[in-house]
Amino acid sequence: MSLELDERQRAMLQEMGVRVWSPAPLSARTGELSPEPARQVKAAAAEAAAPGKPVVSERPAAPVGKTVQQTAAPVPTTAQPLPADIAAMDWDALRQAVASCQACGLCESRKNTVFGTGDTQARWLVVGEAPGENEDLQGEPFVGTAGQLLDNMLKAVGLRRDGTGEQGVYIANVLKCRPPANRNPQPDEVAQCEPYLRRQVELQQPQIILALGRFAAQSLLQTTVPDVARIPLGKLRGQVHSYQGVPVVVSYHPAYLLRTPQDKAKAWADLCLALDVMQRGEAASA
Ligand code: URA
Repeated sequence: MSLELDERQRAMLQEMGVRVWSPAPLSARTGELSPEPARQVKAAAAEAAAPGKPVVSERPAAPVGKTVQQTAAPVPTTAQPLPADIAAMDWDALRQAVASCQACGLCESRKNTVFGTGDTQARWLVVGEAPGENEDLQGEPFVGTAGQLLDNMLKAVGLRRDGTGEQGVYIANVLKCRPPANRNPQPDEVAQCEPYLRRQVELQQPQIILALGRFAAQSLLQTTVPDVARIPLGKLRGQVHSYQGVPVVVSYHPAYLLRTPQDKAKAWADLCLALDVMQRGEAASA
């Protein structure tokens, strides 16, 4: 997909509250679109990738209404082999395993497990933190207000979870069960749930992973970024990381963006970076 924006994408970005360009004027003489939008979007992505860019100290994302804890929960730092039973599972078996999982205490309070949604063969994987109240009730990730913002951001780059976009996307969380009262995930919960996400990645084989928020970033980068739990999310942005050989771009959690709309432009730059990584991957394999 080109970085030049069509009317639909402009509308989406406007809805997100992102204004990274002035309205594209038609050239009076040629009738062509101004190159300015694409230039500015590319500049935003470049700015995100630029070393030495100003780092925004962000309170790591927590869904609206979540208790804000200032310290990062430590997560496991060594990659354990996947348990043999999980390593052998296909999508159906994995979904069933999650649905009946009792590996941590979250199974006692959950109403539904939230396995993931979208196109299991999509090239894009979006990873969030954990289900909130609405997700727990509906069994689907990102169905609340943060989910609406996420959908709009994804639509702006042609991705739709229902498969009607130019490209598919799969959306999953680090935790498959809702932490009570939307508290932060605990290290043991992340550790117990991690094999499920790892197997999802193995089965999907995405070409890009967008990690939304602190817990997704920590969980995916724990074996490749030393001391990742101590690194502010803002410093993990603007680089291309790796998870099981898949490029990972870190961005803000949509719930954080709802509280901090001035950072939406940075999230847009992160999306552009991810798009750029995808396009470069496609070009390399063409
Ligand atoms: N926040 C997340 O990280 N995931 C969801 O599914 C909903 C809110």
